[in-house]
Order: sequence, then C-alpha cells, then structure tokens
Amino acid sequence: MPTVWIFLLLLCRPAPALGTETSDSAASPLARKQAEASRLMDEMTPKIERLKFLQGSYLDRSAFPKIEAEHEQLTAEITALNARLDKIMGQLLTLRNSGEVIDVVNLINRVATHQNQEGDTSTAGLKVAEFSQRTAFESTVVRLTEKTFTLLNTDKAAFQAAEEAYEKQELWSRLTWALAALVTLAAAVGAWRKRERLCALISLRSLRGLSAGTVIKDNYRVDRKLGQGALGVVYEASDLTLQRKVALKHMREELFFDAAVIEKFLAEARLAAALKHPNIVETYAAFEEAGQAYLVFEFAPGRPLRALLSKRRFLSRPAKSIARQIAAALDFAHARGLLHRSLRPSNIMVSQEGVVKVADFGVGYQARARPTAFKRLGAAGALPYEAPELGSAGGAPSRASDLYSFAAVLYEMLTGRIPFSGPDLPAQKSRMRFPPPSSLVLELPPAVDGLIQKGLAADPKARFGSGAELAGALEAALP
Ligand SMILES: Nc1ncnc2c1ncn2[C@@H]1O[C@H](COP(=O)(O)OP(=O)(O)O)[C@@H](O)[C@H]1O
Ligand SMILES: [Mg+2]
Repeated sequence: MPTVWIFLLLLCRPAPALGTETSDSAASPLARKQAEASRLMDEMTPKIERLKFLQGSYLDRSAFPKIEAEHEQLTAEITALNARLDKIMGQLLTLRNSGEVIDVVNLINRVATHQNQEGDTSTAGLKVAEFSQRTAFESTVVRLTEKTFTLLNTDKAAFQAAEEAYEKQELWSRLTWALAALVTLAAAVGAWRKRERLCALISLRSLRGLSAGTVIKDNYRVDRKLGQGALGVVYEASDLTLQRKVALKHMREELFFDAAVIEKFLAEARLAAALKHPNIVETYAAFEEAGQAYLVFEFAPGRPLRALLSKRRFLSRPAKSIARQIAAALDFAHARGLLHRSLRPSNIMVSQEGVVKVADFGVGYQARARPTAFKRLGAAGALPYEAPELGSAGGAPSRASDLYSFAAVLYEMLTGRIPFSGPDLPAQKSRMRFPPPSSLVLELPPAVDGLIQKGLAADPKARFGSGAELAGALEAALP
C-alpha cells in the first residue's frame, strides 16, 4: 500500500505553472504537449492585447484605414494559433485518455474502497480533489481557446460595423454606425467577462460530471469531449452494447432544471429520432438519468461548417453541393412535419468527402422557452440565422423560418460574411439591410443577389417554397 500512496502523490501534484517546464517534461509526452500549449498561449497573448488596442481605433476615421491591414493579419494569426491550441487540447485529452487518467481513476477508486472499509472517506476525498486540480491546466487552455473564439467573432462584427460606417459618406449615418460599433464593443467586453466566469463554472461541472471513462445509463462510455454549445456539452462516446462510436450530448443543468421540463424536451427530441436520412444526423436515444438530460446521436465525421467558414468562403461547386444536401435534409424533415428550428453553420457537419449531415433537429426549441438562461449561455450565435418573425417578434417557427436560416447560411458560404452584423438585428432583417453578395464577391453573378433577396425576404410568404427550390435557384445562378 505505501507504494500506491507514493505513486498517487506523484500523480496528484498540481499542474505546473504556465510557461514552465518540469524536469520530467523531456520524458513525458503529456508534459511536452502542455509546454507546447503554454508556448502557443504566450505567443497569442500579446496578439490579443494588440487586437484589443486596435479596437480603440475602429471609431477613429483618420486611424481606421491604417489599421485595416494589420487587423486582417492579426486576426488571421490569432485564428491560426487558436486552431493549433485547440488541436493540442484534443491531443492532450487523447493522451490523458489513453491510459494515464484511467490508471489514476482506478487507483483512486481502489484507495477510496479501502478507506471506506476502514470508515474514513476524507483522505480519499482529498485525493480525488487533488486529481481534479491536475486538469486545471487543460481548463485554462479550453477557456482561452473559447474566449479567443468569442473575441474573434465579436471583433469581426465590430470591425465590419466600423468599416461600413467608414464607407458611408453622410455624417448622420457615420454617427449611427460609430454608435453601433461602440455598443457592439461594449457588448463584447461584457460577454467576455461574463463568459470567463461561466466557463470556469462549466469546466468544473463537466469535469466532475463526465470525465473520460464515465459510463452513462450502463451503456455509453465517455471517451473525449468534442465541443460545447449553448445547450450542452458533446462528447465522443462508445455505445457498449452495439459496439459503435456515438456523439453523446449532456444537456446543461441550467436549462433543464426540473423533471417536467426534461420530459417535454425529451419528447421533442424523440420525434426527431424518426428522421432517417443520409443528410441528417440520426438521433439514437434521448433519456434522463439522475436528473440530467442526455441525447445520443449518430457520430458525424468531419467538421462543423462553422469551423470551415472561419477560414474561407466557398467556391461555386462545393457551395452547390452543400446546399443541395442541406435542402434534401430540410425537405425530408418538412415532409414529415418536423422543423429544424435552429439551422446554422455549427449544426451542419461536413465530412472530408463533402458529405453533409444536419444535426440537432428540433433540439433548440425547448431551451428557447427560457430566453434568459439561453442568452446567458451564449446562444446569441444563433440569432443572425434566425428569421425575423421569431424571437421577440413572437412568431412561431415554420418551414419558412427554417428556409430563411438556410438562405442566411448560403449567404455566408458564398461571401464569407453573415448577412446582418447587428447590433439591431431585428430592424436590419425586417428592412432587409444586407449588402448584395455580388457587391462583396465580384465573381458572383447578379442572379445570386436575386435569390438571396428572395431567401431572406422579411415576409415569410415571399420566400422559397422548399429547400429544393432554393438549391435549384443556386444551381441555375452559379456557373
Ligand atoms: N453528431 C455529432 N457528431 C460529431 N460531432 C458532433 C456531433 N454533434 C455535435 N458535434 C460536435 O460538438 C460541437 C458542439 O455541438 P453543440 O453542443 O450542438 O453546439 P453547437 O451546435 O452550438 O456547436 C459541434 O461544434 C461539433 O464539433
Ligand atoms: Mg449543435
């Protein structure tokens, strides 16, 4: 037993401070990855500082043209560094999952059992707490990558607003846009601070709730975290009975606070389970365990369209192919009376071969019944794609609102920009204030402007009647 204690104590040391290397770092791949992540974070920090400094010049008309090139380079560098950091985080988790963490968990369990027999659980409890501390470094990395992603998004909106303000000649419009940029910046700062606190809370919860190796409902073994959205955290997991990889979504406790809400949500999710189509992520199961709601999905290989769009806009051929597949998914669900209700790039998975699978059919709906919690959790990312008749306008979701979101996604695929950048999204949407795609990308034919005009019509009746109609119009418009 003493050897077990020594081994445990060694493993349970607090994580090394960022940027430092311990003497065993040369030997341990985990420590090497941590050091690499630290270096990347060190590299990224001054760039983020510089970006925040530049934001002070967005409203300064004499300084603005001079910072454009630097802004572009800086955001590209931060995006690239953040992507590398995110990748290393994945590798870190894989390393931890490939043995070490399972060893530690086993050891802790053994010690806990031993202590229980002796009637003293406090020492084992302390060990578990120490083990949790070891993951503090990873939480820091995750927090930083997420915050950076939020910063880049909010900065993009503020920069675009300032850019448009700069281009406007009339004084009144300049003032309006300057104010808009100011409001967006203020919102960005607020969101940054709020998110920081929230991330700390969330990472602790998910760490406690679903660490690698946890088995849910006696059947789903958590393997690694894939990502998190406003509604929950998604893990790669193994269905132990059917011996297949699945995506397990652990819904946030904050949104699903009582049994009645969970039941209503699960009933909704089970409806989506009837959808079996090559372009739809299949819902395998929806259940509650120990007061927590879980959804089990088909594992969709590839990356979300959101990640692909953060690097580039799409050329004619892939844009047409992706549009055709989204249209097929939507029309299939609509023909069966089911709506998506939250179509956006993060819910569209694209494999390396270009196969599209639309995820989260119907999932966002119940959460929206709690708008305060929903907004607090950073769901604002869905708003640019939401039809103007929804949200505070009070309208019900419909096929037309799904098709509106589809047109907004298409706009972003073709131009690399979202059609409306805020801050007053409802007004911009109802007045259809968006730059025609051909004014942003010169190669796009004017016919594309026409189809986007129809797709983003403020009046639901003026929009396309089906996904196929919209995708067909795109086929006809693009070379
Ligand atoms: N069925 C799935 N298969 C593989 N990865 C998935 C699946 N569903 C979600 N993911 C991954 O998990 C991430 C988080 O998903 P989610 O919680 O739905 O939030 P969001 O849709 O806002 O990104 C996604 O961005 C994606 O990378
Ligand atoms: Mg999703």
